[in-house]
Amino acid sequence: MKTKYESSWDQYSKEWERKGIAGKDLGVEWGDDSLTRDIHEKFLAPRVASDATLLEIGPGGGKYSAGVSPLCKKLICGDVSSEMLKRTAKRLGPDANLETVKLNGIDFTGVADQSIDFAFSIDVFVHLDLEDIYVYLREFQRVLKPGGPLVLHFASLLTFPGFDLFFREADINRAQFKQIGRINFITPELARRLFESVGFIVDEIDEQISPRDFVIAAHKAEATEDEDAPARAKRIVDRAGGGTVARDLLGELGHAVRVAPDERYICKTPIEIAGDERECIFAHPPSQVGYALTIPEKAELVTAAGMNPEIWERCYPDGILFRIAIREGTTETELFSQTIHPRERHDDRKWHEIRVDLKKFGGRVVFLIFETRVGPGTNDFNWCAFAEPAILTR
Ligand SMILES: C[S@@+](CC[C@H](N)C(=O)[O-])C[C@H]1O[C@@H](n2cnc3c(N)ncnc32)[C@H](O)[C@@H]1O
Repeated sequence: MKTKYESSWDQYSKEWERKGIAGKDLGVEWGDDSLTRDIHEKFLAPRVASDATLLEIGPGGGKYSAGVSPLCKKLICGDVSSEMLKRTAKRLGPDANLETVKLNGIDFTGVADQSIDFAFSIDVFVHLDLEDIYVYLREFQRVLKPGGPLVLHFASLLTFPGFDLFFREADINRAQFKQIGRINFITPELARRLFESVGFIVDEIDEQISPRDFVIAAHKAEATEDEDAPARAKRIVDRAGGGTVARDLLGELGHAVRVAPDERYICKTPIEIAGDERECIFAHPPSQVGYALTIPEKAELVTAAGMNPEIWERCYPDGILFRIAIREGTTETELFSQTIHPRERHDDRKWHEIRVDLKKFGGRVVFLIFETRVGPGTNDFNWCAFAEPAILTR
């Protein structure tokens, strides 16, 4: 069965000869030469090595493919439209280092795991629904080699030209009448969250490249990027008396969904309590840090809750609530809940060790949430932390 994307882009390609600009390649209608040149020079060419395998999604008439193909060893172009792939192949010529993959519109089946040095897509994600953007991002994670860069281009609702087009076309893009080639606007912040949630590190968001759009340059994290991870894993296992770290949740903080009034509320920091220094997720209340993950079999959650000794005398007078919960759809199961009150209770001036048996969640896809909450009134000096959170298996 053809996806809606495939039918409408095949049709667009077929109609080009009749409705397009005579004598020109398909693609000239989507931006002038200077934008094409800027994107090529700033975002594509600097990331291409001569021995690299590139993946371009949605090449259309081959406007960007023609620029990068001579610079790399192999260019794989994936598109839902076989008509568009034929156009790209024709433009690059029979001797080009091109491989075409007809995509199913759902994922990148046909592109091998960790086979791509650099992936990009221009003027394609501006048309995709949010769910398709997200799942394609997961696919980029799968096919890129560690450290591999990814460059994508989106349309921003936060610009005047963006909002102008959005409100003009809103009435025709309703319910089942939505146009397939319509511009689907998002925002740089939303794009960043999606990138980070699947494991990309965002290097740059360029909002100047065009009046309406923005380009994100990111890369897939290298396993070695977190130098502290091996020592941290050893500490976690030693403290727990055995096991293997299946998920180092502190190391994965960059990919977690973070909800707080200000981005500075949640970060990595070391905290020392009674001579015991641990790396922590700093979680100033109110804050929530959520991980979408599959709980391994025979798993245990280990962490500790505590507050920075510097503020024990100055923090919220009624204590801070630390919570850990698992959310599965609309059901929430509380795993840990404790009010920590170092100002009043001297017993609370320590690391509160937390160990939760997750066996019954084994194999389930959950949202694991770490949360701190505070009552009304002053919210200064509530320097809370979850220390070295991890999921262990035995
Ligand atoms: C507006 S054209 C852009 C072409 C080219 N990148 C350029 O800038 O000239 C969109 C391209 O993306 C392809 N496309 C649309 N939806 C797609 C999807 N879900 N997956 C893969 N390709 C898609 C279309 O077939 C078409 O080739």
